[in-house]
Amino acid sequence: MQGHQEGADHADLFGCLTYQSLASEPPSDSELNALVAQARLRNQSVGVTGMLLYEDGRFLQTLEGPPLGLSAVWASIQQDERHQNIELLSEHYAHARLFSDWDLLLYRKREHAPRSLWERLRRRHPLGQYVQRVVRDAFDANEAGLGELFARLASSGWHGDEVVRQLIEPAARAMGDAWLADDCTEFDLTLGLGILQMAGHAVRYSDDIEQLRSKKYSILLAAAPGETHILGTTLLADQFSDAGWSVEMAYPSSDEALANQIDAQKPDAVDIGLSDAITRQGRIARLRETVKHSRMTMPDQSLVVSVGGRLFAEASATAEHVGADLSRQTLAGTRLRITELVAYARRMSDDK
Ligand SMILES: Cc1cc2nc3c(=O)[nH]c(=O)nc-3n(C[C@H](O)[C@H](O)[C@H](O)COP(=O)(O)O)c2cc1C
Repeated sequence: MQGHQEGADHADLFGCLTYQSLASEPPSDSELNALVAQARLRNQSVGVTGMLLYEDGRFLQTLEGPPLGLSAVWASIQQDERHQNIELLSEHYAHARLFSDWDLLLYRKREHAPRSLWERLRRRHPLGQYVQRVVRDAFDANEAGLGELFARLASSGWHGDEVVRQLIEPAARAMGDAWLADDCTEFDLTLGLGILQMAGHAVRYSDDIEQLRSKKYSILLAAAPGETHILGTTLLADQFSDAGWSVEMAYPSSDEALANQIDAQKPDAVDIGLSDAITRQGRIARLRETVKHSRMTMPDQSLVVSVGGRLFAEASATAEHVGADLSRQTLAGTRLRITELVAYARRMSDDK
């Protein structure tokens, strides 16, 4: 640390500094990861902790630690040719650390719809080339254009599951990321998802054998109480009705309203959906209550409960966290998985 005095005054204090700088060359993901991995090792060895933020060619870093260790690291950083225009923003002593658990926490803000994201999607799957267009059309409320695209994909042989997994779900997540990056309002996002959902009716599922087998089953597709995004719920309705299930939908305002609907319809399965665009991280406890309420309406345990949304797609939560029988990581294939569970539950109750 520049100009610090080792001595009794600061013996139990941590040095803390923050600077910003410009990358000499924008680092690639792997260069940035390598820099951070090496920095973590050294920071750990001298008791330094902190965070590094990289965005759009700029670094911002806060480091804290025992003055001696911090001085050594800071001296190296200032000499590093990977960045320039280093500007010290603050330098002080503190009694406690801000980042006590982090040798170096890396934040890398994603640029809105970064070109590399579209490129990655394009390379991953042939349908990936359409994701960017789907996002644009959804935000532009071009429902006709989207419907035409989905119909064209169906007539050229793309199965609905594939279209949902490789095109619609990635588009919904990219839209959620745009909202997180403040590139659109929640209103834009909700409207865009609504457009996607309406156009999604042109996605086709065909599975004749399955259709005959599952004709006798029924499902209630519900948005989680209070959830305003219903893309998943709507797309599932097409999947299940195409396969001949009896399908009801619900947009309940409370757990009680959902329980009443389950009680009235006595479906074989209920699916409770959170947003496919936004993670809804804080909703796990609330959803657990909803699932519990739903089960109480059919105490013989025969109701199959599935849950879904981005929270589950990205494995931030699982079925066990909320007491469900199944959490869907993708909308694709959900009907088959629920069919298996319902068939099993039916066999169990027939055996009793
Ligand atoms: C933006 C930026 C942040 C860095 N942060 C750290 C850090 O927190 N800890 C660290 O040991 N090295 C960090 N480094 C790497 C150091 O500059 C240096 O390369 C490394 O500590 C090896 O030091 P030496 O060349 O003096 O042996 C960073 C480099 C850059 C460009």
